[in-house]
Amino acid sequence: MRAVFDYVRVVADSDSSILITGETGTGKELIANLIHQASHRRSRSFVPVSCAIFAETLIESELFGHERGAFTGAIKDRPGRFEAAEGGTIFLDDVDDVPMSVQVKLLRVLQNRVVERVGGSRTIPVDVRSITGTKRDLKHLVAEGKFREDLFYRLNVIPITLPPLRERRDDIPLLADYFLKRFYAHREQEARPLSPGVLQAFMRYPWPGNVRELENACERIAQTCTCDTVKIGCVPVSVLFHHAAEDVAPLLETDTHPSSVSLEDRLKDVEQGLITWALKVAGGNKSKAAELLQIKRSTLGDRIRKLGLPDAPAADEAAARGATAD
Ligand SMILES: Nc1ncnc2c1ncn2[C@@H]1O[C@H](COP(=O)(O)OP(=O)(O)O)[C@@H](O)[C@H]1O
Ligand SMILES: [Mg+2]
Repeated sequence: MRAVFDYVRVVADSDSSILITGETGTGKELIANLIHQASHRRSRSFVPVSCAIFAETLIESELFGHERGAFTGAIKDRPGRFEAAEGGTIFLDDVDDVPMSVQVKLLRVLQNRVVERVGGSRTIPVDVRSITGTKRDLKHLVAEGKFREDLFYRLNVIPITLPPLRERRDDIPLLADYFLKRFYAHREQEARPLSPGVLQAFMRYPWPGNVRELENACERIAQTCTCDTVKIGCVPVSVLFHHAAEDVAPLLETDTHPSSVSLEDRLKDVEQGLITWALKVAGGNKSKAAELLQIKRSTLGDRIRKLGLPDAPAADEAAARGATAD
């Protein structure tokens, strides 16, 4: 990421097209904005636009604008996002979703630096720097015949690749710290540090939604956690579940080939195993454990009593260490 930030400063001031490739939530728009802010265009608009609009007329009208009467619902003239970005930078996110027929028009706009509104005949000159975002590798899409090669070369003058968060795990504590400070500050509260168990859970979780998902997890924590340190019990259940998924699997396997099986005993074993697992992962927090098991807290209490399981909640850290021990 440091290399990316250094590179951003180098390429910012040229007018060359930049193609940012990265999974959703990796920070493509953030980088595009940084590039704009570091360029000579910074006093003009930065206009982000998602191209993941699947109706062709709508995406064309969004990008290029339309004239009154161009289609049903076009009740007045409307400039598109290219015109809105005049003098500044347009960030075309999700360009991999642009249909082939619109790709031709996009190429023409980028090459000739003029737009034609849908249903219009005037050509409107636009002075706009384009930065493009894609979640899929455009080269692959070109090879599959799903993306125009000429447009690809036009967009890909300067390529930037943003790695997914799971491939730069050292960023996780830094980003979590930054987001927690920010969200607790919104609530006019002192930020809480993450307990070692939570940090470990965060480091192991694959973060399919990348930085955006981490940001949302931190926001939820700041909304709900008033403990001195953020404990496992304060963490969104989705993050915990991934963290512990591998610990559940053995509980659901039958490992022998007995001549007969007691269904009752077997179900009891599985139930006890899952409850123990959930309590361990949740650091002894019964509401969280019940949430993990998708049952009511009172039901969990009943079952714990029926199975005769020890009721004393384990300390967060011991539990976390236990749950993550290899
Ligand atoms: N390095 C970073 N530092 C702080 N916040 C970040 C960073 N990278 C991404 N974010 C935040 O994560 C969220 C997702 O980033 P975004 O640029 O919208 O991703 P994308 O466009 O790739 O989907 C945004 O709220 C953004 O501010
Ligand atoms: Mg985006």
